[in-house]
Amino acid sequence: MARGRFITFEGGEGAGKSTQVKRLAARLEAQGLEVVTTREPGGSAGAESIRALVLNGEADRWSPVTETLLMYAARRDHIERVIRPALARGAWVICDRFADSTRAYQGAAGGTDPALIAALEAHILEDVRPDLTLVFDLPPEVGLERAHARAGAEMRFESKGMAFHQRLREGFRAIAAAEPQRCAVIDATAPMDAVEGAVWTAVSERLAVHG
Ligand SMILES: Nc1ncnc2c1ncn2[C@@H]1O[C@H](COP(=O)(O)OP(=O)(O)OP(=O)(O)O)[C@@H](O)[C@H]1O
Ligand SMILES: [Mg+2]
Repeated sequence: MARGRFITFEGGEGAGKSTQVKRLAARLEAQGLEVVTTREPGGSAGAESIRALVLNGEADRWSPVTETLLMYAARRDHIERVIRPALARGAWVICDRFADSTRAYQGAAGGTDPALIAALEAHILEDVRPDLTLVFDLPPEVGLERAHARAGAEMRFESKGMAFHQRLREGFRAIAAAEPQRCAVIDATAPMDAVEGAVWTAVSERLAVHG
């Protein structure tokens, strides 16, 4: 069975992930590939309902363990209904956040037992694993300033303290260091066009974009 490629974008608030997901999708479509862009939490109708529960409200609305379970309920629905079918028909799936965000937000920053997260990955993701993960790295104060300037709803994680966001950054960097074959760290402090170029270099060097 033909299988597409699965690319995930990860990193803290305001790092530029959503901006660059669109740019990468356009470049891949220009190569004649079918591209599906999606996001987490969310990406399917049921998962988007869970997104609203998780991203709105007071910072302590959910405990990290409860959040982990909500994220994995959403992720399973998203995988079943969107990601797996797209990969099976050969599409390239670009996902704005995925399982590493649970490791970093609920795990490294939130304190959820990594063994619980590892067990959920094994049982819930099964074989749906990213071929490439782009880890957008920048100082949290820079990202939060960008995110605040954008404003809007879904501020729950942004409202957590700076210590949380520092642990988050370290969590993402640790994931990239532990899995260098899957992950590429992107300097997210660079101007948008330079970030776009770094993303394209990583994708075209690591995945066979030209068949
Ligand atoms: N390289 C960049 N330099 C300066 N500003 C940027 C850059 N990339 C994106 N921005 C701006 O920063 C803001 C946040 O970008 P974006 O929404 O893409 O980040 P994000 O990583 O998706 O954030 P979140 O995790 O909160 O969804 C936007 O206003 C965007 O225009
Ligand atoms: Mg975003």
